[in-house]
Amino acid sequence: MKVLVIGGGGREHAIVDALSRSAKVEKIYCAPGNAGIARQAECVAIRETSVEELRDFALEKGIGLTVVGPEVALAAGVVDCFKAAGLRIFGPTKAAARIESSKEFAKELMARYNIPTAGFRAFTEYAEARDYVAGRPFPAVLKYDGLAAGKGVVIAQTMAEADAALKDMLLDDKFGEGKVVIEDYLEGPEFSFMCFVSGRRVWPMVLAQDHKRAYDGDKGPNTGGMGAYSPLPFITPEDERFALERILQPVADAMVTEGCPFEGVLYGGLMKTAQGIKVIEFNARFGDPETEVVLPRLKSDIVDIFCAVAEGFDTQLEWHDFATLGVVLASKGYPGSYEKGHEIKGLEQVEGTVYHMGTKADGDRILTAGGRVLFVVGRGRDLAEAHAAALRDVARIKCDNLFHRTDIGHWAFEK
Ligand code: AMP
Ligand code: GLY
Repeated sequence: MKVLVIGGGGREHAIVDALSRSAKVEKIYCAPGNAGIARQAECVAIRETSVEELRDFALEKGIGLTVVGPEVALAAGVVDCFKAAGLRIFGPTKAAARIESSKEFAKELMARYNIPTAGFRAFTEYAEARDYVAGRPFPAVLKYDGLAAGKGVVIAQTMAEADAALKDMLLDDKFGEGKVVIEDYLEGPEFSFMCFVSGRRVWPMVLAQDHKRAYDGDKGPNTGGMGAYSPLPFITPEDERFALERILQPVADAMVTEGCPFEGVLYGGLMKTAQGIKVIEFNARFGDPETEVVLPRLKSDIVDIFCAVAEGFDTQLEWHDFATLGVVLASKGYPGSYEKGHEIKGLEQVEGTVYHMGTKADGDRILTAGGRVLFVVGRGRDLAEAHAAALRDVARIKCDNLFHRTDIGHWAFEK
């Protein structure tokens, strides 16, 4: 089978890597891909949101399966467009992807179906939102209702901070015109529970945890994620069962009942609070960088899973016992402004796996080309071994404009 992967980051590199382990795959294309992906797939210069161009490419090349990475492609309606053309594609329709693209849709669905999450109210009027926040305890959680590349959530400690955020979101339409959801503040360790979902069928993946802050000790600004690992020692099998039976399965069922059955990866961003496990957010796709530590642990043929989801038949997932821990190498300055075009050396010395997040080839040279540049995955019998393996490989990579966190997994080591 010929397969097309849409996207060009670390997540898509991990998907391409998993596909390349399948005996059923004859050729992999990736649009647009990156310099690392180019070693395992043919990269095609089509943007991930150029939906019709992607469809025409798939028709012309006889692609048997397309896998969607990023949310922007889902929100652009790539799945609807491919399905209308009779093409097999892995991912939710635009209507089903609202579980991620609209916070209000997600929150109302959870309220209607009794899914545990933070209490909330939605606002469109700045003055009403401000008065509501002023009458409540701080910190206040303010979420812009729509895709904002991870920058639409503000945890305000003071009224002044909350007011500035509400002005940005509701008066100045900084992210576009929209609503704001104001939530109760929750506390506890966060974790990512991704499931393959096909209508009412739900196949859980192994758990992972992301690290959002830029610097060691969970300090500094929020980022797209600076590292991840799997498994999670502080989440018990009972927690996992609760999350599956009380959260992921009922949401999959609810989407069917609501007339927008979900197909693809349903990602629960969950928090283990003193009052039990609650939903922070849902995503309608593989997490990044969680995918880069989860898919290497998948023993089953990923093509069987993608096809089972797309066609609605049954399958089984098997996992490796080893632990994975991955460290992001990011451009200095990220998540603020940063330079591109710095040469990366030493990649051939690496013993584990390196997924490229933002790189570009220049002849034989590999150059930095994004905020997050590389994701280095270590493996081990336990997380401590995986951590040591990842850091050994990080030290082999030479570039004068990259930084990384050294404490990925600290949650697991402290507990
Ligand atoms: P989201 O985009 O909804 O995942 O929010 C981004 C981050 O903000 C989450 O990963 C949490 O760390 C934090 N956050 C979101 N909602 C809450 C909440 N209700 N209480 C505490 N922290 C939150
Ligand atoms: N790692 C968080 C996300 O993919 O949204």
